[in-house]
Amino acid sequence: MKRLGAGVAAVMCLAAAACGGGSDGDSGKAGGAGGGTAVSGAKVIDPNSMNAPPKGTITYCAGKDTSGAQAEVISQFNAKYGAEGYKVEQLEFSTSGDEQRTQFVQRQEARSDECDVFSSDVIWTAEFASQKWLYDLTPYVSEQRSRFIAAPLETVHYGDKYWGVPFESAAALLYYRDDQIETPPATWQAVYQEAKANDGIVYQGAPYEGLTCDFLELSFAAGGTVLSDDGTKSEINSPENVEALEFMVDGVKDGTAANGVTTYMEEESRRYWENGKATFMRNWPYAYALGNAKGSKVAGKFEVMPFPTFEGGGTAAILGGHNVVISVYSKNPGLSLKFADFYASPEWQKTQVIKYAITGTIPEAYDDPEVEKAIPYAPELKQAVTQAKARPVSPVYPQISQAIYKNVNAALSGQVSPADAMKTAAEQINKALATF
Ligand code: GLC
Repeated sequence: MKRLGAGVAAVMCLAAAACGGGSDGDSGKAGGAGGGTAVSGAKVIDPNSMNAPPKGTITYCAGKDTSGAQAEVISQFNAKYGAEGYKVEQLEFSTSGDEQRTQFVQRQEARSDECDVFSSDVIWTAEFASQKWLYDLTPYVSEQRSRFIAAPLETVHYGDKYWGVPFESAAALLYYRDDQIETPPATWQAVYQEAKANDGIVYQGAPYEGLTCDFLELSFAAGGTVLSDDGTKSEINSPENVEALEFMVDGVKDGTAANGVTTYMEEESRRYWENGKATFMRNWPYAYALGNAKGSKVAGKFEVMPFPTFEGGGTAAILGGHNVVISVYSKNPGLSLKFADFYASPEWQKTQVIKYAITGTIPEAYDDPEVEKAIPYAPELKQAVTQAKARPVSPVYPQISQAIYKNVNAALSGQVSPADAMKTAAEQINKALATF
């Protein structure tokens, strides 16, 4: 990859600053990558192509459909447009975000047309756009911009262009058993104390993207950062980050964290929680609907809260979510855009949150009496999504994240000290930054 110019450094600075420590959620700016490396020569979508695309079938590739929401958005689309000759088929990838990325990258490197549309994690825009794997959707998004909440919209903005249609925006929640805990604790330290006195806490501690999120939530709350303001070097090896990691490691050592936590991703944590084995769980909003569904032992026995503060620091949440992106190898970009447009429609966005607790990207997905009935904490969620901090924005983000989660996991597993883990992570991040 090419070395980035000064403009990019400034952009990364913006993103890194938004990520950076501090207690307030100032990340209306989060993910503000719009000015990143200019990407020229990408195929540009014609927004009118979705009105009368060629008849046919397209494939929607996405991570494992654990909630069933993907199958339903597809069946609703097919019910609405099937008679006109339009159809979407589902191709499920892995549950792990890292593996989903690899599965998509392999297809794009082979110039395969297997995936017309892909559910792309908010952190992949910079890389996929730089590789010219995505249609430039600027002409479509420009017309639609005012419909979206700013933070998720920024996650498709890179190099002054828009590369996707945001459909899911998420900030994680702290789930707690309200039959065990009366008043939710105000600090992470108090959460761990209460967890220790009861049935512990479960989160995502496996070496993958989820652990980067879980760690950065504590790190940013403790005042840590990942990159320098100009985005050119690592700042991960700081006392704040070592303190956040020590806090997590202590929780594993003294048995406050679930036994298998260093191998758990979202779904393992959710199953552990639904079996009634933990007092607290850190997870994304989707676990709310499933936790209250048939078969869950904790149905009706839990509440959710925004994250508490880190003693001596503040509070922070990480912006998660997914965007519909269109592969440049799709043979039917018009139909792909029609599907993306449906995914972000108020009609689907409301169903998605009411039935599946998958939080949306437009205000109607929150400010609605039916939504507030199904998800009583919808206003807090909207606030959390609006204020959540972005992860660093960079074409080498996957390498930066690997440096974080591999070393954090090694510390949680007792293989290295928190100080050594941060030192190694810093070296690896600097190496990754030097490759472009
Ligand atoms: C969720 C989030 C995504 C994040 C992933 C980590 O899917 O939406 O942004 O990267 O979890 O596992």
